[in-house]
Amino acid sequence: MLDAIFGQGDRNSLTMDKPHPDSLLDTSVQGVISRPLDRVDGPFKVSGTATYAAEYQIDNLAHGVLVGAKIGHGTVTAIDASAVKAMPGVIDVITDYDTFIRNPQQGGETTAPTQGVKEVGYFGQIVAIVLAESFEVARDAAQRLHIEYDYAAGAYDFDANRDQSETPPASQIPAHYTQGNVDKAMTQAPVTVEATYVTPSQNSAAMEPHASIAVWNDDALTLYGSYQMPTSDAQQLAKSLGISEKKVRIIARYIGGGFGSKLGIAPESVAAAIAAKRLGRPVKAVMARTQVFDATVRRSNTEQRLRLAAGKDGKLTAIGHDSLTSNLPGEDYFEPVGIGTHFLYRGENRSITHDMVPLNLLLSGSMRAPGEAVGMIGLECAMDELAEKLGFDPIDLRKANDIDADPEKDIPFSSRQLSRALQVGAEKFGWDQRNPRPAQRREGEWLIGMGVASAARSNMLQQSSAKVEIHADGSATVSSAMTDIGTGSYTILAQIAGEILGIPVEKIRMSLGDTNDPPAAGSGGSWGATSAGSAVYLACELLRDKLAKAMDVDPGELTLKDGQAIGANRSVPLGELVGQGMEATGEIKPGKMEKAMTQASYGAHFAEVAVNAVTGEVRVRRMLGVFAAGRVLNAKTARSQCLGGMTFGIGAALTEDLIHDQRNGKLVNRDLAEYHVPVNADVPQLEVHFLDERDIYANPIHAKGIGELGISGAAPAVANAVYNACGVRVREFPITCDKLL
Ligand code: MOS
Repeated sequence: MLDAIFGQGDRNSLTMDKPHPDSLLDTSVQGVISRPLDRVDGPFKVSGTATYAAEYQIDNLAHGVLVGAKIGHGTVTAIDASAVKAMPGVIDVITDYDTFIRNPQQGGETTAPTQGVKEVGYFGQIVAIVLAESFEVARDAAQRLHIEYDYAAGAYDFDANRDQSETPPASQIPAHYTQGNVDKAMTQAPVTVEATYVTPSQNSAAMEPHASIAVWNDDALTLYGSYQMPTSDAQQLAKSLGISEKKVRIIARYIGGGFGSKLGIAPESVAAAIAAKRLGRPVKAVMARTQVFDATVRRSNTEQRLRLAAGKDGKLTAIGHDSLTSNLPGEDYFEPVGIGTHFLYRGENRSITHDMVPLNLLLSGSMRAPGEAVGMIGLECAMDELAEKLGFDPIDLRKANDIDADPEKDIPFSSRQLSRALQVGAEKFGWDQRNPRPAQRREGEWLIGMGVASAARSNMLQQSSAKVEIHADGSATVSSAMTDIGTGSYTILAQIAGEILGIPVEKIRMSLGDTNDPPAAGSGGSWGATSAGSAVYLACELLRDKLAKAMDVDPGELTLKDGQAIGANRSVPLGELVGQGMEATGEIKPGKMEKAMTQASYGAHFAEVAVNAVTGEVRVRRMLGVFAAGRVLNAKTARSQCLGGMTFGIGAALTEDLIHDQRNGKLVNRDLAEYHVPVNADVPQLEVHFLDERDIYANPIHAKGIGELGISGAAPAVANAVYNACGVRVREFPITCDKLL
């Protein structure tokens, strides 16, 4: 794909087949990289001039409102649109959306809507779009639309259907992995823990709902959408519409959070595109908050059976982590619950398995740190239970099980500071104040406790490209189909270019989120900053070589600073040196390093909570995280990512819980009033520290993924603190008051 687009022109392509020890970011002289710069897009956001998908002002726009099925499983037998079509202002009702995309992001079928198929797989699945001259009329008509169904029996209850469980095919990790004999090790070890942890379905609950505006120009579609990965989203959309991917452009300049729910396209994009084609005019479709809950994607509930066996020295001899999750019948994607368990601790006997119960509930897919975010709840709470049984401090237990090579493959880690993060965190948090016996510290009605958990999140690199141009006025433009989903991409990419080229960040124009720009993997899996950042780096490296040539010096003798090229006793303004302008494209691809080293970011989470002895209410008093994720590209945006992750951890531990009506799978708590994400009053002062680190095996900028590290381990730290506070071990999440009394 990239070759076709960059067949000519100057391109610097790097496949990570070997370590990349040198980085221009270490040898340049600006001091811009890693600084806690304010977001370059901040002023646009606070002044309301950052345009989000639904905000584009388009002439002759028709408003579409989606209609969801009101049965959990069955068939649409009739849609009588005659009454609503007669309403003033209603333009049309399009009802043939039954083959709506199911799971494009995870590799499932994406087919074009066709007439006559009306299968409903879950309550709320989108079956129609009502189009009107105004949003209000469209919404009114959508609520009045008369739909008849044939009901079919559905599978809505996880427990009742567990015997239907199936083993999915491997995805990121194998569904089943075994090494040695866990059963045997469990019978032989002096100390064991066997416990089952349950986590509920969750919703990403991004601030901005999914929204699309579709505009056709002859046979070419421009879609303003709120999507994390525009390059692959455009491919999905083209496939679902049955048109060439060259004919689809997605523009996603600003995205109000995604957390995985916007990795793949959602129904509103296809609906808007088809409706706009049918009507011959642009169509906007914005999902209502309830539809985001009903009809985008959920994180699966999990049931995790943990088995740990250890010697008296605390060293694990066996780890069993067997999980059961759920998804729609026929779907392959499974929450990779055991992904972190594969590489976190020693133990020669291992069983890490994933099975899935098919249910007629909303599609499950990726939500922030798929795998670790929930898998580490089971593993890290079980480690806490093991520490108590052994009479070990939980930090000492984790250190005793830290390792310097992958416990399953005979390969090293690219970089790993787990023990150090635990150590530094313990000192900063005041871990020595913790009473190892639970329910000992009391302040009036409140029982106080402390908990710890490791943080770990696998590191990924994804093929990405970016173009950097230096203009005749000395300014520069960085462009890539990378996105900024609120994470700081605009800022860090400008910092990388500014650092290497010696151009002040204010003079770097950023163009992100447009598939007309060089393709990129976008934002997902915490690979965005490192993948797009490496592409920008490589473009700048090539530009630097070209500038050296123009100066007639060796690249090693060239200094770029304050908009000047300095070398061989002269200093030339960049604008002058580049003449009409100079550009280069950088491209990074994952290579052999991914298999030669186990790559992950690490850290440690600490929490102090108060549990009310009378009401069971839990208040998180403080949290502290120490993280090592390679080079920190911007100390402020990196910190904010960790704060967000820790906040997610509070929600996962204490409040978030998607509840389905067991009669038809309808979500009961389908808005932000009833689905409880932590609010300001729930989140105390959070402290974040980074350990200095460079990972020369990961990519040329030596950074690793950070976004999802902050959530991975945060919830079990809170849960372990609750146990230490009150002595009640809740294994069914979230830990609500009723479970503590
Ligand atoms: Mo993330 S769940 O890969 O956006």
